Amino acid sequence: MPPTAAVAQPIIDRVSSNTDTTSNVYPDRIVGPTTWDGKDLKAHPEKWIYHLTPEDITDIDQAIKHFLSLNIPFSQISPSTFPLTTFKNVIIKERNNLFQGLGVGLIRGFPIEKYERKEQVAMFMGIGSYFGTFKPQNRKGHILGHIKDLTEGSTTKVVYSAEDPTTRIYATRKAQPFHTDSTDIVSLLCLNEGQEGGLSSVISSHTLYNRLRELRPDIVELMKGPWLWDHKGEHDPSEAPYTTIQPMQYYENHLFTFWGPHFFETVSRFPGVVVEEKYLEAIRYIQDLCEREALYMKLQTGDIQLVNNHALLHARGAYKDIPGQTRHLLRLWFLVDEEVSGWKWPPNKKEYTHEYVKEQVVPLEAE
Ligand SMILES: [Fe+2]
Repeated sequence: MPPTAAVAQPIIDRVSSNTDTTSNVYPDRIVGPTTWDGKDLKAHPEKWIYHLTPEDITDIDQAIKHFLSLNIPFSQISPSTFPLTTFKNVIIKERNNLFQGLGVGLIRGFPIEKYERKEQVAMFMGIGSYFGTFKPQNRKGHILGHIKDLTEGSTTKVVYSAEDPTTRIYATRKAQPFHTDSTDIVSLLCLNEGQEGGLSSVISSHTLYNRLRELRPDIVELMKGPWLWDHKGEHDPSEAPYTTIQPMQYYENHLFTFWGPHFFETVSRFPGVVVEEKYLEAIRYIQDLCEREALYMKLQTGDIQLVNNHALLHARGAYKDIPGQTRHLLRLWFLVDEEVSGWKWPPNKKEYTHEYVKEQVVPLEAE
């Protein structure tokens, strides 16, 4: 029998071992600050956008200068090598908001275009170091990612084919459907908005759960089970090229959602692997629901977007570039200690990490 998204014995064992206490029982409805409505947040930007003050910018500027004067690798940037004074309190508030509040935040108003790339990276990674530990984003050990078109028709250089199923969508101009990244927090810094499109959107996965419970409880049940997942070549070479993941998991009073439509779909490239129609239909249904109810935002040059992956799904629209207006975002992934987040992490969370990658590389340009 060919493998299907319903065949995955090992993860079933992990699932059942996680559901034996009341704190792991899926609630009828999730309540709390993470269950926001996209239209409400759109109408109240003050709830999730922080505008930097001149004092904040001065504080960040002196930390950039201090870090660069040390002449040490970017991988060693930390609160001690990037010392902030008053702005530190803003970061702590933003970090708390990610785990005890909305799960999404935006820091706006940094004059990024006045800085050179090294200074931009120091600013982003320096502020980022207060949020958690940097996590490699691929098998090359990149702890700083570049979201930029590197496919045919690119305004800069061509590295990947947009049609290759292993090409990550962030390296293309295509729309990226709603998904989570394989980390606790993902942060983006907008260096260039591009010519047109590329709208960023987020939706609370806790609101999504509530909506699915009302509208399609069968999809919730499907998401509690194992789904096949294409590693897209980013796995430990000693492992199989695809695995199973559990898209929804309720653990210690928190709902964790792990969602990657493209990875669920391209797994069918492996000989004998079949993705059943009920999974594909669920993917389409969730995408449509998210598109209707998400919070949409146009990232502006200098914006820092912060997202708790365990509470939100995110997406971005297709876009166009022209020379000089080439969309370019920097990305950081953070792991956060339980003591800081206040959330207990489920035992299988490390399944989604790149723990085999020991190197930490900070490329200043997309590669
Ligand atoms: Fe993403």
